[in-house]
Amino acid sequence: MAGLFDGATVLITGAAGGFGSAAARRYAREGARLVLSDYDAGALDAIGLEIGEEQGSEIASLAGDIADERLSEDLAALAVDRFGRLDIAVNNAGIVQEAFEKLPKIASDEARRIIDVDLVGVFYALKHQLPVMERQFRESGAGGAIVNVASVAGVTGASGLSVYAAAKHGVVGLTRSAAQEYARLGVRINAVCPSFARTPMATDMLDVERRGKVVTENQLVRGIPMARMAEVEEVIEAFIFASSPHNSFMTGQTLHVDGGLTAY
Ligand SMILES: NC(=O)c1ccc[n+]([C@@H]2O[C@H](COP(=O)([O-])OP(=O)(O)OC[C@H]3O[C@@H](n4cnc5c(N)ncnc54)[C@H](O)[C@@H]3O)[C@@H](O)[C@H]2O)c1
Repeated sequence: MAGLFDGATVLITGAAGGFGSAAARRYAREGARLVLSDYDAGALDAIGLEIGEEQGSEIASLAGDIADERLSEDLAALAVDRFGRLDIAVNNAGIVQEAFEKLPKIASDEARRIIDVDLVGVFYALKHQLPVMERQFRESGAGGAIVNVASVAGVTGASGLSVYAAAKHGVVGLTRSAAQEYARLGVRINAVCPSFARTPMATDMLDVERRGKVVTENQLVRGIPMARMAEVEEVIEAFIFASSPHNSFMTGQTLHVDGGLTAY
């Protein structure tokens, strides 16, 4: 059976993590060739091997820090050198604050690192992905689609996570602005905004003491109308929709996968 992304080249950052590895498996099942990246080189190798063995997919991978511009430059070049094109990019690598803290208690070094990884990392990614996709559009009429993984903290305040929220608001700003700039150049850019989902980023925060506080799952889901965390696959569904070739008129949008949290 034909896959939704047969023959497409899909670049995924943060590919060893919860959303990233699930997205890599799903795009591979849908026929994509993958360019995978993560900070954690060992985990990246393991996920590449697993998908290669299970799906027989073509995979290129490169480990590195998304806060280093050269990684984004090298990843865009790797997609073109290995597979001739870059059709879809899922800019997903990210970190969250070490603990829920009021703003004045956040260490300035931690704040800078979060902005560097979560916001500037997405800027670097877009900076090197967009020209490749624009060139493809001019040459062949087929540009590309970009999915930036933001958060509900990118569209509402997030008490205790102010710097993370600031970075994710920035990702939404980059998404909307780049979408307008590239609307006639064959590139669609959208942001996916999940609430807490069952990945290591969120589950590692639960039931452990961090800076003198313990956060429970019940506390995390308070205020979410569906009263639960998202399952990873529920969020990946939005990545697939946002990047689907059938979804050709949607750009610059935020897709809220949040159990109704922002529906007020
Ligand atoms: N899980 C949630 O509840 C949730 C909710 C909203 C948004 N998000 C966002 O989803 C994205 C993926 O997070 P996740 O939940 O899968 O978390 P995760 O911790 O499971 O995965 C994140 C991955 O990014 C990688 N990474 C971290 N810093 C990096 C860096 N500097 N350079 C390259 N790679 C780096 C990690 O090694 C890890 O594999 C993040 O952008 C996160 O902010 C997560």
